[in-house]
Amino acid sequence: TRSVGIGIVGLGTVGGGVVRLIQKHHDDYVAAYGADLRIVRACALEQSRAEELGTGAEAFTTDWHDVVSDPAVDIVIELIGGEHPATEIFESAFAAGKHVVTANKALLGRHVEALGAKAAAAGVQIRCEAAAGGGIPIVGTLEHDLVGNQVLTIAGIMNGTTNYILTRMAAEGLDYSDVLADAQRLGYAEADPTADVDGFDAASKIAILGSIGFRTRITTDDVYMQGIRDITSEDIAVARDMGYVIKLLAIARNTDEGVDVRVHPAMIPATHQLAAVNGAMNAVFVVGDAVGETMFYGAGAGSFPTASAVVGDVLSLSEHISRGTAPMAEPEPFGRNLSIRDI
Ligand code: HSE
Repeated sequence: TRSVGIGIVGLGTVGGGVVRLIQKHHDDYVAAYGADLRIVRACALEQSRAEELGTGAEAFTTDWHDVVSDPAVDIVIELIGGEHPATEIFESAFAAGKHVVTANKALLGRHVEALGAKAAAAGVQIRCEAAAGGGIPIVGTLEHDLVGNQVLTIAGIMNGTTNYILTRMAAEGLDYSDVLADAQRLGYAEADPTADVDGFDAASKIAILGSIGFRTRITTDDVYMQGIRDITSEDIAVARDMGYVIKLLAIARNTDEGVDVRVHPAMIPATHQLAAVNGAMNAVFVVGDAVGETMFYGAGAGSFPTASAVVGDVLSLSEHISRGTAPMAEPEPFGRNLSIRDI
């Protein structure tokens, strides 16, 4: 058994799920994997939150520096989102030789290349299964399972808030603003929900998945983006009468002309599998030259589903820690023309 020191920054919806999942399965992880996960530092704004989760008074801090500088911390879990101070947390963690597990799609969508280079230089890893598709195991699938393929298309419904809103608009004839508050209450929406409704959140995720799947570098700024603000319940009704469903799709295509990445509302035939993805659920469709069409469905947001991805990353890093595995090499592009097309 190996003791793995965890420092967690952010005890919100996802952070709370991570703490509870580790508490629930602590003994199973020891028995199954020999990984004794210990939350030695927990950083949040309010001590009451740490008390509610039972992370202990000695572990609690309001200053993230305490987390990254603690020698007992092997893995830093960053769950505060946004670019700052998340960037500084990553860089300080690397400087201290610690791996980082994150759900921060906004940060990685913009800076995955620079941060990945810094991590590699420090001999540590960034793991981000939770940053795209929440609980759906899609990052590891692209990073490991599909590497024998040339990945041609990654597309799907990658934002739970907008899918929840569109689903309820369709079912109840409501306006998007009427339903947005419910999505926020259910914990799907970002702190600033404009990131959801304007397509930025989905754009960050498709930038991450496209970068991994196509082994190139796509940033959120490369993604054409249109959100759902202008979709009315009438649009949805008209589409339905024609046999279509309106969904916010994120699409990355690896073509001979280059990589094409976009997020926009799309009319999908009501018979298509993606049309059946309702509520806050997400689905990612991946086409590889060998495997053909594959589709991954699951909860793209929420406390335990996202914690599932975070804890999976922690456990797989724990194995690397105990085996001393070398960090991933800088990827080389895989076939085709991987220049980013102007948008
Ligand atoms: N706000 C995001 C969503 C959360 O609605 O899907 C998960 O990234």
